[in-house]
Formats: sequence, structure tokens, C-alpha cells
Amino acid sequence: MRSLGRLLLLLVAANLVWRWASQRRSLPCPAWLAWSLETSLTDRLIGTQATLDRLGLRPGQRVLEIGPGPGRLLIPAARRVSPGGEAVGLDIQPGMVERLRARAADAGVSNLTAILGDAAQPNVPPESFDVAYLCTALGEIREREAALRQCYAALNPGGLLSLTELFPDPHYQSRATVRRLAEAAGFRLEAMHGPWYFFTANFTKV
Ligand SMILES: C[S@@+](CC[C@H](N)C(=O)[O-])C[C@H]1O[C@@H](n2cnc3c(N)ncnc32)[C@H](O)[C@@H]1O
Repeated sequence: MRSLGRLLLLLVAANLVWRWASQRRSLPCPAWLAWSLETSLTDRLIGTQATLDRLGLRPGQRVLEIGPGPGRLLIPAARRVSPGGEAVGLDIQPGMVERLRARAADAGVSNLTAILGDAAQPNVPPESFDVAYLCTALGEIREREAALRQCYAALNPGGLLSLTELFPDPHYQSRATVRRLAEAAGFRLEAMHGPWYFFTANFTKV
């Protein structure tokens, strides 16, 4: 019991240190930790299906994820937009992009493209996506406002921007912060799903 208490204390301390350090310099979730986002236990613990359901994806849509990591969400998203749809993931870390490509190939998903790049300069065609989303990635991006303006440019008129945050992710962003940043980029809030510790804010490009 005492060991469990110590472990929990250690985890909380590590989380606080990471959060503090990442406010000073860019500290994205390292690629060697990608495995932690790939297990079925993770899917259950951090609500992969619920997050996908909140996106309301339909066959034929084009969907963009900024910061997909190894594709916990993007690989099933690519399946949900099939047939006829496309999924694109843009990540700043080469290790994550390689892992995403390998996992999509292993899963037999052929309508997914993984691109290496920065959310603030994504280099994707304007007005070419129906849905853009970020999950536990916004807080890792240094130029968050620029990144959301780029999502605005990449979406078709009326397109959906979906932002999901989970506590205690060390880069957790509050509902108020997410709303302020998205509205500053020109989006209108449509719906807020879930409690503060696992919420998805959906916005429309107006
Ligand atoms: C915590 S992981 C989340 C992965 C995935 N969204 C999920 O929920 O399973 C955050 C990801 O955002 C990526 N990232 C951080 N800063 C970025 C930036 N400026 N542009 C693109 N991706 C970025 C990281 O490399 C990492 O893969």
C-alpha cells in the first residue's frame, strides 16, 4: 500500500515537472513513448471510441489530424471515412510519422497519409478538409494561435474543428483556453462534449 502511494506521488511529481518544463520550452511527447498510445488498455482508459464518436465522421469525408502520434485516433478515423474518404496526419516528430506509416500499413489502411511538419506551417492545400482535429496536442504546440489559423485555412467553409483535452496530460488546456484560442482564429463554438477532465470542443468554420 505504501509502495503504491509512493508510485502515485512519483507520477504526480513527474507530471508537474513536465508541465512546468514544457511551459518554458517545447517538450512534445517523445517518440519512444509512442507505445503507450498503442495499447487496448490506453484505448479504454482515455476514451478512443468516445473521442472518435464526438467527431461524427462519415464515409467520403477528408479529415486532418494535427499531432496524430502513432495514429491511436487517425487509423480508426481513416476506416470511418471509408469508402471514398481520406485521412491525413501531420506530426512534427519523424519518429511519430514513421510509426504512424508502419502501423497504418500493418492495419491494411490505405487511405491515410502521414506528413512530417509543424502545425504552424502545415503546407496542406487550403479549403481541402471537412474535419480537422487535435487531441492532447494543442498544449504541445508553441504557436497555438497560428496552428488554429492554419486549421481554419485548411477547412472547407462550414468545416468542423474538434479539440479534445484530457487531464492529467501535462499539456492539458482548459475549456476556456481552448475556446478563446479557437474563437480568435475565427471559429464558432457549436458543442462542448464531456466533463472538464475529458472534453471535446467542436467548432465550425464560419
Ligand atoms: C500526446 S501526443 C498525442 C497523439 C494523438 N493525438 C493521440 O491522442 O493519441 C501529441 C503529438 O503532437 C505532436 N506535436 C507536438 N507539437 C507539434 C507541432 N508543432 N506540429 C505538429 N505536431 C506536433 C507530437 O509530436 C505528438 O505526436
